Amino acid sequence: MGEWVIEPATAEALPDILQIEEACFSAPWTRKMLEAELSGNPFAHFLLAKRVLPGDVSSATIIGYLCFWVVFEEVRLMNLAVIESMRHKGIARALVSRALELGAAQTASRALLEVRASNQAAHALYRSLGFRDVSTRPTYYSNPIEDALLMELDPIVSAPIRLAQESDHEGGYTRPL
Ligand SMILES: CC(C)(COP(=O)(O)OP(=O)(O)OC[C@H]1O[C@@H](n2cnc3c(N)ncnc32)[C@H](O)[C@@H]1OP(=O)(O)O)[C@@H](O)C(=O)NCCC(=O)NCCS
Repeated sequence: MGEWVIEPATAEALPDILQIEEACFSAPWTRKMLEAELSGNPFAHFLLAKRVLPGDVSSATIIGYLCFWVVFEEVRLMNLAVIESMRHKGIARALVSRALELGAAQTASRALLEVRASNQAAHALYRSLGFRDVSTRPTYYSNPIEDALLMELDPIVSAPIRLAQESDHEGGYTRPL
């Protein structure tokens, strides 16, 4: 079975992230865009969810990621994906909760994101974490053209605090699969 952990990303993860990105999105970020967030943007943070087989640390494979910015009082969730075979295990919720916790520990007091209007899974995820719909940004997305829902969590509170109590891994969490 194994377990999964959340860790900060390093630039070596780029090829794996790109592969997941292209599998998960109809308008994926390019290698250049991902590269800029991994190593060029001072506001950006990148977290990885990795699957680890029991007793074999070298077996770690990337199963999800979250890119977010901490810009003064805001956490901006920029990009989130979990590979299809690992969905519905709480991995995205843990990634977002960790980002909120890290942002709140820096300068952030609220969080914002955009999500495709048709993306019911992501919308339900964010609502379950306390985000609320704020407004619609018409034709925000391309391929296909679609509106974005702007969602906000203000203030950042309950979800990250709950997860902090469960933390048992340096820089992240370890969870059984
Ligand atoms: C959206 C996504 C990241 C969710 O990842 P995940 O690890 O499966 O999500 P979690 O297991 O943490 O789910 C947490 C909550 O989100 C909601 N949720 C997740 N997937 C859902 C689905 N398919 N339908 C309805 N609600 C869903 C549920 O409320 C769930 O809580 P529950 O398990 O207690 O019911 C994943 O489906 C994905 O990578 N999709 C493609 C890329 C994408 O859309 N990214 C988001 C862009 S904004």
